[in-house]
Amino acid sequence: MSVNTINQNKLRQSFNDFDEIWVFGYGSLIYKVDFPFIEKAPASIKGWQRRFWQGSHDHRGTPKQPGRVVTLIHSALDECSGMAYKVTQDVFEHLDYREKNGYLRYEIDIYFKGLKHDNIKNADYKKGLVYIAHEDNAAFLGYAPEHEIAQQIHCSSGPSGQNRDYVFQLAEALRALGDNDEHVVCIDRILKQLNQSV
Ligand code: BEZ
Repeated sequence: MSVNTINQNKLRQSFNDFDEIWVFGYGSLIYKVDFPFIEKAPASIKGWQRRFWQGSHDHRGTPKQPGRVVTLIHSALDECSGMAYKVTQDVFEHLDYREKNGYLRYEIDIYFKGLKHDNIKNADYKKGLVYIAHEDNAAFLGYAPEHEIAQQIHCSSGPSGQNRDYVFQLAEALRALGDNDEHVVCIDRILKQLNQSV
């Protein structure tokens, strides 16, 4: 089941509340940067983990054979690494379209690696935005054992290409950031084994 969140996202934030606008990428936004940005920096968000629990009917799968892409799941003790981009407001027209299958924009605190404490606000983070597909969206697939997730990804492709390439690119981008996300590493490894056995 695919969904379309474009109209909901248009109503979500007043950009007037932001001195500068940062968007945090934890999935394809890390390696597929098809939007203009002013500045970028490795960063993380606290209390979330990355999981291949969202169905992809429009990019890496089809309505009949959905692929799996990442979303964020609450997990109090976890921290999710990624890349933050300083952007202008008009970028969201493109990103809302690109990520329309169930993702909504949320405000979030973005922690920048190496950012010094700002003595005025006493904070080492900046307010920003992130796209999350929650479990109440119609395209949400939810938990499955990692070998089943890998099997589904192995068999899926869509208009943006093979689902497995999404995983390989994400795993490579995370390695380059020095991140060792066990869920991504495990699915990447199983997919490479599946690839060799065909
Ligand atoms: C991201 O890379 O941050 C992202 C992942 C899924 C949907 C939208 C954005």
